[in-house]
Amino acid sequence: MSPLIIQLIIIIISSLLIPPQPTTADQSFISILITQNGLDFVKNLLITKAVSAFTPTQLTNIGKVIRIPVIGNVNVVLSDIIIYRVNVGLSQVMPSVHGVTIGGSDITCDLSMKWHYYYASPFVPVSISDTGTAFVKVEGMEMGVTLGLDIRGGSLNLSNLECNCHIDDISIDLDGGKSWFYQGFLDAFKDAIMSTAAKTITERLNAEISKLASVLQSFPKLILVDNLAAINVTLVNSPFLSDRSLGFEINGLFVANKTNTHAYGNSVNVLDGLQPPVHCSSPSKMIGMTLDVAVFKSAFALYYNAMFKHWIVDKLPERSLLNTTGWRFIIPQLYKKYPNDNMTLNLSLTDPPVVQITQQKVDATVYADLVLDVLEGVDTIPVACISLVISGTGSVQITGNNLAAHLKMDDLTMSSKWSKIGTLHMFLIQPVMWTLIETVFLPYVNARIGTGFPLPLTNGFMLQNAEIITSSSGITVCSDVTYDDSFDGTQIYT
Ligand SMILES: *[C@@H]1O[C@H](CO)[C@@H](O)[C@H](O)[C@H]1NC(C)=O
Ligand SMILES: *[C@@H]1O[C@H](CO)[C@@H](O)[C@H](O)[C@H]1NC(C)=O
Ligand SMILES: *[C@@H]1O[C@H](CO)[C@@H](O)[C@H](O)[C@H]1NC(C)=O
Ligand SMILES: *[C@@H]1O[C@H](CO)[C@@H](O)[C@H](O)[C@H]1NC(C)=O
Ligand SMILES: *[C@@H]1O[C@H](CO)[C@@H](O)[C@H](O)[C@H]1NC(C)=O
Ligand SMILES: *[C@@H]1O[C@H](CO)[C@@H](O)[C@H](O)[C@H]1NC(C)=O
Repeated sequence: MSPLIIQLIIIIISSLLIPPQPTTADQSFISILITQNGLDFVKNLLITKAVSAFTPTQLTNIGKVIRIPVIGNVNVVLSDIIIYRVNVGLSQVMPSVHGVTIGGSDITCDLSMKWHYYYASPFVPVSISDTGTAFVKVEGMEMGVTLGLDIRGGSLNLSNLECNCHIDDISIDLDGGKSWFYQGFLDAFKDAIMSTAAKTITERLNAEISKLASVLQSFPKLILVDNLAAINVTLVNSPFLSDRSLGFEINGLFVANKTNTHAYGNSVNVLDGLQPPVHCSSPSKMIGMTLDVAVFKSAFALYYNAMFKHWIVDKLPERSLLNTTGWRFIIPQLYKKYPNDNMTLNLSLTDPPVVQITQQKVDATVYADLVLDVLEGVDTIPVACISLVISGTGSVQITGNNLAAHLKMDDLTMSSKWSKIGTLHMFLIQPVMWTLIETVFLPYVNARIGTGFPLPLTNGFMLQNAEIITSSSGITVCSDVTYDDSFDGTQIYT
């Protein structure tokens, strides 16, 4: 067994002895699961990044005094030892209940260096020296990194549990000087080169892990949606780790710019360490993300308060509806009492919209009051109020990294709340209202929800071939991801 495997076994055994900590679950409304395919994608990305961070890497000089029978001591120094190419043959990522291990094997490295020797002896009248370059090929290198994952203060705390590098053998090719003559000298350096290279690579790997840890630690806890709202992406509870996936829970609620959030029901997803937090129909997708109904409730509550509470309609494509003349045959009393006066319509939502997600569709019900106002000179006179219950079906789709929706009206029920202009005949008003809602209200709402809101993804990652599954508990997005280094996600949402 290689030392790497033995170390891994020791890690696993020692962590099995630690009893699990009892945890109190925090409220979480968005769960993210990274499947084996997703972990492989991230692993390849990390390896590519690590390899490019490694090359070139300079090792410390190695000096040695070599004792040669009869001749005496020869000082040999290797300098400018540089790793200039690394290739990872095989790699693997293995999540387990205690962390994530990334292992690489069949790794080859190419190094270049300068060599120089110097020999002086009281018996030889002139000192002798020579110099040249050499190329070193490292073959069959193995690397292993075990990372601990923990949530601290709402961020991911990545700890470096184990990081090592093992080199089996190297070959040295000399160039310059009387190369053939010195090959034997340099073979005496094999062990020193191997241990220095392994030590340096381990150090560099540790440094890269620390960098990654501080990047993860500094992730923002809010994603801006627009100037009214942000999504609270604070990580809560412990990560879910199984032998095939890695899951996270985040708070996930919409919060207003600078104001506090309310509680929306109970936490749905208390981690029991057995069930993955997200279920996708196809296990081949890289990630899955489940958004609880509470996320949408929090969004509606926020926008209801901020945007839709009162909406005064004073411009319409159908201008006649803003003049009592236009209502002449629909509400005769209105025209009789206020002939030829301009009007405004005051639409206010009486409650946040109610959203119900089922296996097939998303239903939304909007409760609104519409007040007809007559403008007489400087006065605004409310003359009647109609209660509206608009029910519609929503369709959900992914645009870019956003979850967007489109609402279609299915039904409209109306009742007269109060009137100063006699009885309102709903069968006459209904067609007018239907048109008004379809041509004015819905386009306004759809313009906003059609842009959607950003799903919590780390900078640079983009969804690809996303699928949406709706169920009574929420909406699940299962998707592959791509990565683009140059992409700065923070620019998109502000
Ligand atoms: C991260 O975890 C390590 C080890 O568990 C701990 O020493 C360190 O203080 C933690 N960092 C933060 C920011 O909590
Ligand atoms: C919050 O609102 C203020 C002004 O109303 C604005 O300047 C600021 O950018 C907003 N912040 C966010 C996070 O949207
Ligand atoms: C975000 O969620 C965390 C964890 O649930 C909570 O402690 C924090 O108060 C929330 N932040 C806001 C601004 O609501
Ligand atoms: C209302 O409409 C009628 C008919 O189109 C028009 O004659 C009248 O001037 C309008 N009233 C106002 C205040 O614009
Ligand atoms: C009525 O509305 C029309 C169109 O908006 C406007 O041109 C006109 O000045 C208004 N009349 C009064 C009396 O406010
Ligand atoms: C609109 O109507 C609501 C009640 O439905 C009322 O509270 C509000 O003051 C009205 N706004 C205007 C500008 O008339």
